[in-house]
Amino acid sequence: MNPTEQKTTVSEAVRKHKEFLFPAVATYYQEPVALVKGEGEYVWDDAGNRYLDCFGGVLTVSVGHANPRINEAIIAQTNKIQHTSALYANENQSNLAEKLAEITPGDLKKSFFTSSGTEADDTAILAAKLATGRHEIVVLRHSYSGRSATALSSVGHSTWKPIASQVAGVVHAAAPYCYRCPFKLEYPSCGVACAQDIEEIIQTTTTGEIAAFMAEPILGVGGFIVPPPEYFQIAYEIARNHGGLCISDEVQTGWGRTGDKWFGIEQWNVTPDIMTSAKGMANGVPIGWTIATSEVADKFPGLTFATFGGNPVSTAAALAVIKMIEDDDLRANCKTVGDYLRERLEELKEKYPVIGDVRGMGLMQGIELVKDRTTKEPAPEAVLRVFEETKRRGVLIGKGGLYGNVIRTGMMLNSTKDNVDELVAALDQGFALC
Ligand SMILES: Cc1ncc(COP(=O)(O)O)c(C=O)c1O
Repeated sequence: MNPTEQKTTVSEAVRKHKEFLFPAVATYYQEPVALVKGEGEYVWDDAGNRYLDCFGGVLTVSVGHANPRINEAIIAQTNKIQHTSALYANENQSNLAEKLAEITPGDLKKSFFTSSGTEADDTAILAAKLATGRHEIVVLRHSYSGRSATALSSVGHSTWKPIASQVAGVVHAAAPYCYRCPFKLEYPSCGVACAQDIEEIIQTTTTGEIAAFMAEPILGVGGFIVPPPEYFQIAYEIARNHGGLCISDEVQTGWGRTGDKWFGIEQWNVTPDIMTSAKGMANGVPIGWTIATSEVADKFPGLTFATFGGNPVSTAAALAVIKMIEDDDLRANCKTVGDYLRERLEELKEKYPVIGDVRGMGLMQGIELVKDRTTKEPAPEAVLRVFEETKRRGVLIGKGGLYGNVIRTGMMLNSTKDNVDELVAALDQGFALC
């Protein structure tokens, strides 16, 4: 879109958002956008402006807005029966659980459904504690796991922690953040010190026997931090030596997002004991999911229940998303289009010194902005400039990173190279202003 053609209007939705929502529910952009319509890769705001959506409501609209194949499943199920509660079996929940046992790695078999990533991670941590009889968990700095007391205690960002940790026994290991190595070393001569340090973390900050090690295969909110290839093999081995179960948080990295594989952890040649996901699993219909080996799941005692867990509509949507990823070979598309996006972003890096690092996998690509490539001082204000300019040019992007200086792109799994060109053209204009 020609930026001069952009319409503006005073948005009632934005005005009421500011007046009636918790101020902590922050919005992107100087003039927040109120979205009223979506179709495929595009969304429209309430002034009629069209945008290429390169963030998908935080990697959640995975196969396009208002996708007829997903909506058909949702509408058909809504018209049949919309809610049952987990007290009754329903065929969508059962079929989805069976399918998930088939497509997940290793011996993962039994599922528990909820409504969000927070609940999925909570369930995983609880299951690990119950299965091991231990209480301590190792998580990563720069990680994100949600908003419950347990999840907030696990979050590795002060910016997302409004209160001190309320749950004891959570320790934070160094992130495998090569661009800003916590040990000031360089890969590969570092010997993957960040992974090796988990041994000392366990020995010095826990009882020595842990319930679990929980990590995202690529740290999402942290700014798409990609670990070195050996990281997870070393980390999982250390955790298991200390009696811990390994939890892979696939809230952002699941469903083919990293290219070729269903789940991010499969890129690292290890097999978790528990896995969680949410976001892109049902293309925007609320869902949370925890899967564990039978050995772990069977040790969850007593009764447990989530009112909306396994809801027939959300599980219908998830089944339709998985079917579409399979039918259209979207894992392969993610790899092909993701590689192309990466190539184009590397070109921008050659052109603009404000780009310190380009990283990611598949259609999960981030750009870390710095004031100076030598000092690596974060440049969050440059991100804001790029945000405003790309918006003016009809493209929506995301951000992240502890310092708010990482542009995150989470294009839809069925995006095309033309979509990439449109995104890169807008970014190019944005970086030109930095
Ligand atoms: C890796 C990860 N885990 C958990 C969560 C929490 O998910 P939700 O916001 O659905 O509770 C998020 C949300 O961004 C996430 O990125």
